[in-house]
Amino acid sequence: MEYRQLGGSGLQVPVLSFGTATFGGAGEFFKAWGQTQLDDAKKLVHLCMDAGVNFFDTADVYSGGVAEEILGKALLGIRNEVLVSTKATFKMGEDPNYGSSRFHLIRSVENSLRRLQTDHIDIYHMHGFDGNTPVEETLHALDDLISSGKIRYIACSNFSGWHLMKSLSISERYGWAKYIAHQAYYSLLDREFEWELMPAGIDQKVGTIVWSPLASGQLGGKFRRGQPIPADNRRSQGGSHGPETDFERLYTIVDALDDVAEEVGKSVAQVAINWLLQRPTVANIIIGARNEEQLKQNLAAVGWNLTTEQVKKLDEASAVAPIYPYWHQKQDTNLNPTPKFY
Ligand SMILES: NC(=O)c1ccc[n+]([C@@H]2O[C@H](COP(=O)([O-])OP(=O)(O)OC[C@H]3O[C@@H](n4cnc5c(N)ncnc54)[C@H](OP(=O)(O)O)[C@@H]3O)[C@@H](O)[C@H]2O)c1
Repeated sequence: MEYRQLGGSGLQVPVLSFGTATFGGAGEFFKAWGQTQLDDAKKLVHLCMDAGVNFFDTADVYSGGVAEEILGKALLGIRNEVLVSTKATFKMGEDPNYGSSRFHLIRSVENSLRRLQTDHIDIYHMHGFDGNTPVEETLHALDDLISSGKIRYIACSNFSGWHLMKSLSISERYGWAKYIAHQAYYSLLDREFEWELMPAGIDQKVGTIVWSPLASGQLGGKFRRGQPIPADNRRSQGGSHGPETDFERLYTIVDALDDVAEEVGKSVAQVAINWLLQRPTVANIIIGARNEEQLKQNLAAVGWNLTTEQVKKLDEASAVAPIYPYWHQKQDTNLNPTPKFY
């Protein structure tokens, strides 16, 4: 398994991790996402370990804490061989105290540690930006949690460019721990990540952990031109959010994926994941799977590389016209708005 350095930190991570939002299936939304219970979770975890994928991503909100509980049980006996990332910020239950306050984060870490049956979290993500809590309060609390040994590294998720830059500069000002990674939505279908967040990541040495690499299964090969929208997809069943689908764009990308998949003798899903591996700042891709077959395929999406021509074909099929100010920056101004990739 290929390992990459996560941003500017010293942490090496396998290029794939396994996402556990499918564990538990509690509540309508997560039931549609996946319904993996403990016995199957153990099998999936061990398939990952056999393939060299020892990094597991979860969140407090996944099935209201049940996903963390199942992951904790599935990792008993191998906890010291793996990396675990989890997240806090979003509302759990009716308590008005949620977000990224000191009060909520300290309580959330304690709850996640208990559910995961561990004494530390390797990467702790702010699941979203909380505009009601001073950024200083959040980062000071996270720095204290690192000092206490309860978390090892901090990362953010779903931040805007300015959220990230403000956070990094406040960490710098006070000498507190910095976000080493951004867990972000990025796929051939939706490439907005490249406009602001990727250049910021390059400039600031913030690594990218990609979520929903198959755009919730839309790039899994079931969605095809001229065919009905698949009823057995989790998005069709109400288990995903995300922008409304531009089907013409999706089918153009799937057509290109089909051509490349045939050339390389891989599946559409494997090619879509492999394309992401070649993008600047990407250190890790969180693969999702509702069953063993999907997981086995996704684990085999690495260990080989698309050619430059194949990448170009996929780039072109998925290209989008930039919004302002990116179209202006692309004009011939003799300036280079994008920092060099480290
Ligand atoms: N930070 C965040 O805000 C955030 C948000 C979302 C996810 N995440 C993390 O990212 C992880 C992965 O997200 P995701 O589940 O949305 O990933 P995804 O790969 O975009 O979507 C998974 C879906 O793709 C399809 N699929 C998976 N493997 C396939 C294969 N080999 N062939 C064909 N189809 C395949 C399945 O669709 P079908 O339903 O059609 O079977 C499955 O439900 C989550 O578990 C979580 O850890 C984080």
